[in-house]
Amino acid sequence: MPVLRSIRERFERECPLDGVRVAACLHVTSETANLLRTLIAGGAQAQLCASNPLTTQDDVAAALVADGVGVHAVRGESADAYAAHVVALAARVPQITLDDGADLLSVLHAGEPSWSAALIGGTEETTTGLLRLRALQDEGRLRCPVLAVNEALTERSFNDRYGTGQSTLDGILRATNLLLAGRTIVVLGYGWTGKGVVLRARGAGASVIVCEVDPLRALEARMDGCEVMPALDAAQRGDVFITVTGGRAVLAREHFERMKDGAMLANAGHFDVEIAVDELAELATERRQVLPLVEQFEVGPQRRLNLLAQGRVVNLAAAEGHPAAVMDMSFANQALCVEHIALNGASLQARVLPVPPDIDREVARLKLRSLGVRIDELTAAQREYLTSWRS
Ligand SMILES: NC(=O)c1ccc[n+]([C@@H]2O[C@H](COP(=O)([O-])OP(=O)(O)OC[C@H]3O[C@@H](n4cnc5c(N)ncnc54)[C@H](O)[C@@H]3O)[C@@H](O)[C@H]2O)c1
Repeated sequence: MPVLRSIRERFERECPLDGVRVAACLHVTSETANLLRTLIAGGAQAQLCASNPLTTQDDVAAALVADGVGVHAVRGESADAYAAHVVALAARVPQITLDDGADLLSVLHAGEPSWSAALIGGTEETTTGLLRLRALQDEGRLRCPVLAVNEALTERSFNDRYGTGQSTLDGILRATNLLLAGRTIVVLGYGWTGKGVVLRARGAGASVIVCEVDPLRALEARMDGCEVMPALDAAQRGDVFITVTGGRAVLAREHFERMKDGAMLANAGHFDVEIAVDELAELATERRQVLPLVEQFEVGPQRRLNLLAQGRVVNLAAAEGHPAAVMDMSFANQALCVEHIALNGASLQARVLPVPPDIDREVARLKLRSLGVRIDELTAAQREYLTSWRS
């Protein structure tokens, strides 16, 4: 993660987070470990809990403990243990938070009022987290500024499109060893993430159907060369279904009833509510684990549907999430945003705020440098032309 490394080296010299209590609720992976080490290099006192009970890498958690980070996470922890771990972090009265799904900031807002007494600000890594935080803001209850890292350009373009696109298919392949060429893949949701999934699915030789509720995005999918249709129609056609909407019950009983024998169901959205697993279970006369990450539901005579990774986020539950090269940029954004909050938090409004464009540009600049890519600069005459109305 060369981008983060260069920030870490600067943090070691400048110590911009000296003594700041930072609490992070993120997937406990080796990439997150590099982010935490960068924050510690900047002087932060860091604590970490998981943002999903299934994605913790226990060896990484142990290594971070050895580095002096308080880690509250263990792979496969129960829902109660997961919730207790988030509360444990909140109870340490953090000054800056990092979230991936807004669980930590939600607890800080709903729990003991003294827990949020020292909050300067937070960052949010994912769309679903921002939805929740904006809802909190709309109720007038958001108590600190939150930088929408998920909406930084370097994040949108690289993390969601390339990172999730590739790793979602990687998760499906690891779980099933399916040949994608010649299959019909139905992607529900054509946002940044869905677009990445579609891009890679088509590259692997699949035909893609997109289901959308937003006319603009649906039109974009059509113009990008996909078939577009309602999910009920797509239900009869798909071999593999991938939900990536951020919504709930996008695939439900009425869809399961129409699906072909052998259809695969995977979710790449943040929460495990996009596929209505309870309705699938109600419909099933029998269910069996056919592969470690594939559960098969008998839903009619000679009709079996295969659910991957319990309907949890498949690129993390069945694979390793985004490749480090992508997380390098996301977490470089996170590190620079934490620094921005530490230095300017007091003057920021208690709202969900965009990542400052300078941070985005700096991340792109460092990434290009790490790739050995050089680019042109505007000449003085070009700059003048572009900033003047006279010529
Ligand atoms: N797996 C990962 O690593 C990963 C990475 C990034 C984002 N995410 C998650 O993926 C989800 C989508 O994120 P995004 O950034 O693409 O969001 P987005 O808002 O850009 O796109 C979501 C799209 O889904 C559409 N949609 C909503 N409900 C629908 C429905 N019932 N049927 C069909 N389409 C519907 C919306 O119109 C929208 O175009 C979120 O839950 C986000 O947290 C996961």
